[in-house]
Amino acid sequence: MYAQMVKTDGTGIKSSEQMTPEERAFQERIDADSRIEPKEWMPAGYRKTLIRQISQHAHSEIVGQLPESNWVTRAPTLERKAILLAKVQDEAGHGLYLYCAAETLGISRDEMFEQLHSGRAKYSSIFNYPTLSWADIGTVGWLVDGAAIMNQVPLQRTSYGPYARAMVRICKEESFHQRQGFHIMMQMAKGTEAQRRMAQDALDRFWYPALMMFGPSDADSVHSAQSMAWKIKIDTNDGLRQKFVDQTVPQAEYLGLTVPDDKLAWNADKFGEGKGGYDFSEPDWDEFFAVISGDGPCNAERLGARVKAWEEGAWYREGLMANAAKQADRQPAQAAA
Ligand code: 3HC
Repeated sequence: MYAQMVKTDGTGIKSSEQMTPEERAFQERIDADSRIEPKEWMPAGYRKTLIRQISQHAHSEIVGQLPESNWVTRAPTLERKAILLAKVQDEAGHGLYLYCAAETLGISRDEMFEQLHSGRAKYSSIFNYPTLSWADIGTVGWLVDGAAIMNQVPLQRTSYGPYARAMVRICKEESFHQRQGFHIMMQMAKGTEAQRRMAQDALDRFWYPALMMFGPSDADSVHSAQSMAWKIKIDTNDGLRQKFVDQTVPQAEYLGLTVPDDKLAWNADKFGEGKGGYDFSEPDWDEFFAVISGDGPCNAERLGARVKAWEEGAWYREGLMANAAKQADRQPAQAAA
């Protein structure tokens, strides 16, 4: 039902008989786990889906710097400042790897930025929530980077070579990010009563937005079926969400914090069969669709900050281009000398 509320161009999957010979040969390569490289033939829909997903992922990395960079000057110790600064810089690097991977598909970086700034391209819903306390920074590392890893580890096996290779490095760094967040939470949860309350409050506010990061339920996911057939996505949204809950609940227990979900319960029968995972409450999907449609708590602030940075950086980009043109002009003269 909700899928109709999201403006997408997801269409059904073609059967083998409906495919052209080229499409069939391409699908056979995907099914055989071959990697597709930039100059090889690919269906237009495969290219388009990759550009959409990789550029949205890149935008998420860049926009994701904002709620954290906001805390660099307020981090409680010099060590915490240095760690947070390094993490925020890593996220810029992730954005760059991903923009480069998307460029190999024939879209320019300027076009991708234009799509972000005009609101046509999405970025992860999670970054439209505010970071109100230092415990929020711990929670972002623990839950947000934790959810990102859950999604991105399988993407190291995605069918498009440049995307899969970018993911390998990104996942290594995200793993460090998740641990630094958990470490902040360990200190706060075992600190003073006020610190423990801050940690619980952060978990209360970020739990459901973190669950939303995996996208709508499978029934409402317009792209999953085709993206999984093309191995652009490896797991379903609900499958990843379940794995995330199963991994994170014991971590919350270790911290002595309570996941804000009355329905949370381990689901296994007395023979240890059952689902073998937690039952949990769904996030508020109306809130999710409002946030990804531009109506979340911080959408205007986040996009405004990106547009301002782009506009204020124009002189620098122009300088770089002028310098590159000057170097290119000099080269023939140097070659002739
Ligand atoms: N936030 C914003 N939009 C979302 C979303 C989310 N959490 N989940 C889904 N959507 C959008 C989709 O983009 C799609 O809209 P579109 O057609 O306009 O693009 C629509 O909702 C329908 O959802 P689908 O399930 O059909 O979409 P996908 O198949 O693309 O699945 C996804 C969504 C699981 C997020 C998938 O795109 C994906 O795996 N992307 C790669 C990973 C990624 O982008 N991660 C960003 C996380 S943040 C991060 O990594 C930063 C780090 O520093 C923490």
